[in-house]
Amino acid sequence: MSRHRILLVTYPAQGHINPALQFAKRLISMGAHVTLPITRHLYRRLIHLNSSLTTIPNLSLTPFSDGYDDGFMAIDRTDADFNLYSSQFNSRGSDFVTNLILSAKQESQPFTCLLYTLLLPWAPRVARGFNLRSAQLWIEPATVFDILYYYFHGYSNHINNQHKTTIELPGLPFTLSPCDIPSFLFRSNPSPLSFVFPYFQEQFHELDVENNPIILVNTFEALEPEALRAVDTINNLKMIPIGPLIPFNSDASFSGDLLQVSSDYVEWLNSKPNSSVVYVSFGSYFVLSQRQTDEIARALLDCGFSFLWVLREKEEDLKFKEELGEKGKIVKWCSQMEVLSHSSLGCFFTHCGWNSTLESLVSGVPMVAFPQWTDQKTNAKLVEDVWKIGVRVDGKVNEDGIVGREEIRRCLEVVMGSGEKGEEMKKNAKKWKELAREAGKEGGPAEKNLRSFLEENA
Ligand code: UDX
Repeated sequence: MSRHRILLVTYPAQGHINPALQFAKRLISMGAHVTLPITRHLYRRLIHLNSSLTTIPNLSLTPFSDGYDDGFMAIDRTDADFNLYSSQFNSRGSDFVTNLILSAKQESQPFTCLLYTLLLPWAPRVARGFNLRSAQLWIEPATVFDILYYYFHGYSNHINNQHKTTIELPGLPFTLSPCDIPSFLFRSNPSPLSFVFPYFQEQFHELDVENNPIILVNTFEALEPEALRAVDTINNLKMIPIGPLIPFNSDASFSGDLLQVSSDYVEWLNSKPNSSVVYVSFGSYFVLSQRQTDEIARALLDCGFSFLWVLREKEEDLKFKEELGEKGKIVKWCSQMEVLSHSSLGCFFTHCGWNSTLESLVSGVPMVAFPQWTDQKTNAKLVEDVWKIGVRVDGKVNEDGIVGREEIRRCLEVVMGSGEKGEEMKKNAKKWKELAREAGKEGGPAEKNLRSFLEENA
């Protein structure tokens, strides 16, 4: 029996399941056994698309009912739906996890540690009830953790002040502006996804009752050296970089795809010259409005670059459909790492979800950042101003919140072009690719850090 028996709990969304599975892969390679509870609906989808997940030694995917066995993640769900869903998921998830811990004990195969991702404030409480060690797997950058930590520990007025132009936080080597702050923190002006606020609030307050809380962060030392230490004097909290949790090779055994990958884009990419293609994707959750879709489509056509666009929305509603088909390729879903590591890639037009940002960074692809909410705004700030591997579209160009075609085109031309700024970004992107791979390589610092964590805590 494995010495480290890990219970890994994650929220049922693509952007959470992907890093959780990559994390499970690392743990298993170090001799741990990982149990990963998952909702029945997602279990069916995962297994349908990647049946080998059920045969991986030392990985147990354990399905449970969240009350939505036929699926919840429809494209037209509102925030109120998500709020209702999350509270149901949390109560059922917490009961299920409690029972898992109990039966593992009864079978004399007790868990040695509970690890949990975001939006699950009940997870450390359940662990405490059993005297079980727990730690958080933080799947966003350390900088975002710091901002939230400060916000929930006395800095809310300092941060939640849209009239200030610059916000300084102790330990962070750069200033932030309101548009760099996770959007749901602005309580006076609720943004989409603002229902997550109480979950984060509770999760951060849970840290105060923990002894020496540990946060395992999907980042690496060179990327965020100061942010990893900014809050460590408070409550003996320790942030340990264990990233990037990205597969560098073509190993798809731990793939967490919840949508079928389209089949014909690789051949299309193969036909394109080096560094000539713009890859466009806004992650697994955000849905573009019709007008914004049209502006992006027009910008892509006007600047003349070839593009591969992941569009989960209805394709029938697309304006300029024929023209788009001539110049680019539109797919419903792709294997993003395969695309980003393709030699034809020149730029990633992204919403800056943390997985996408890290995947681009690990692949050495510069970005045009079009952040929408939560951590994405901070991620875009880091991309543009700190790591200097991209430009951010100016969201203030149109007053109605739509970013116009001229602005999108301007950004794409800067990143794809051979001007001084574009060249500098390409050079920096190569540098970060090397540093990311150095951190995540076999026997590298990410592995060493996780190994010590396991030995000492799990
Ligand atoms: C969400 C949040 O929005 C994000 O800000 C947070 O950091 C994590 O959770 P999501 O919006 O889906 O995630 O974005 P992102 O973090 O980029 O994750 C998307 C994942 O889907 C990536 O791992 C990406 O590789 C994958 N993907 C996306 C595909 O495999 N194929 C696609 O066609 C599109």
